[in-house]
Amino acid sequence: MTNKKIINALKNIKNDVPPIWLMRQAGRFLPEYREVREHLGSFLNLCYSPKDAAEVTLQPVRRFGFDAAIIFSDILVIPDALGVDVSFVQGEGPKLSPIQSAQDIKKLDVDKVISHLNPVFEALKLTKEHLPESAALIGFAGAPWTVSTYMIEGGGSKDFSTTKKFVFENPKLYQELQEILIQATSLYLIEQIKSGAEVIQLFDSWSGVLAHEEFRDLVIKPAKKIVENIKKYSPDTPIIGFPKGAGFFYEEYIKEVPVDGVSIDYTVPLEWAAENLQPHVCVQGNLDPVILATSQELIRKRAREIKDILGNGRFIFNLGHGILPYTPIENVELLVDIVRNE
Ligand code: CP3
Repeated sequence: MTNKKIINALKNIKNDVPPIWLMRQAGRFLPEYREVREHLGSFLNLCYSPKDAAEVTLQPVRRFGFDAAIIFSDILVIPDALGVDVSFVQGEGPKLSPIQSAQDIKKLDVDKVISHLNPVFEALKLTKEHLPESAALIGFAGAPWTVSTYMIEGGGSKDFSTTKKFVFENPKLYQELQEILIQATSLYLIEQIKSGAEVIQLFDSWSGVLAHEEFRDLVIKPAKKIVENIKKYSPDTPIIGFPKGAGFFYEEYIKEVPVDGVSIDYTVPLEWAAENLQPHVCVQGNLDPVILATSQELIRKRAREIKDILGNGRFIFNLGHGILPYTPIENVELLVDIVRNE
């Protein structure tokens, strides 16, 4: 047994109380984050400024005593490191120079990824020095499918039709892009572990828009390769997969991808997860972030339900997706108290 509850849960060691952290906990909803962010101008500047990135990584742990810190960065630093133009326009979300042709893919340079992302590794080292011993440091990356949607669409999307069309019309080219993302992401995550990350989470935020065959080829296959690459280097580092919206395919995901934990979104029924996922992996989730931004009664009711049904097995309390920017601080304080003390 370690004194890090998150690592116990992922390694199937029993905790007295479930560990808790919240996806996207570093940033947006915290006044102390907004202050740092204002001084630094652009979002990527903050990601690449090790001291400030470490500071905003530690802020939510200091304020709420969470059981983990997730390194402050973004899934789109990988396209940035590969040479794509990436910018974050306030109020509009990310903008990227879109990948449209074989030439665009040829220009992507995996060799520069590690040196370009050195500030993230420095931020991890600094964070580790100041993190309380009971908290685990989580490194992360976006999975190839989700990252490729931003690269092909040139930003966010509602239906991902440009990316899907690209996959169906140019399967060979898409495979080249996927291979580049598998390599870059594996190297990046291994370097995060070398820099102090104790747990890895792989975010596949848009895996829920794919039919079965595409889910296998675009979500499961690359996740399996990345997790295997990491496990070759560091067999003991626990890995959490988050194929958000996978629904019916969650079961296949955990059978095929050798993850230690799976993060479930808020659509997954608790009893079903307890019966079909929890015997095989640690389950993380799954309070709807909108509920966390509503009333204390509703938060209490749903948080207790989740804890009652999943709390007896391998479990990490979390949201079913990232925390919303307008979430009241006192609701987060209440949630931590409910999970630990009720
Ligand atoms: O606590 C943390 O999790 C902080 C680190 C983190 C960020 N983004 C910081 C961020 C993490 C883990 C992410 C993951 C991420 N980024 C995902 C996967 C998880 C998910 O929510 O589905 C995705 C799809 C992105 C892409 C992205 N980055 C978008 C769509 C946006 C704009 C909209 C938004 O969420 O604000 C970002 C910007 C971003 N990433 C911000 C932060 C704090 C806001 C930037 C700002 O301060 O202006």
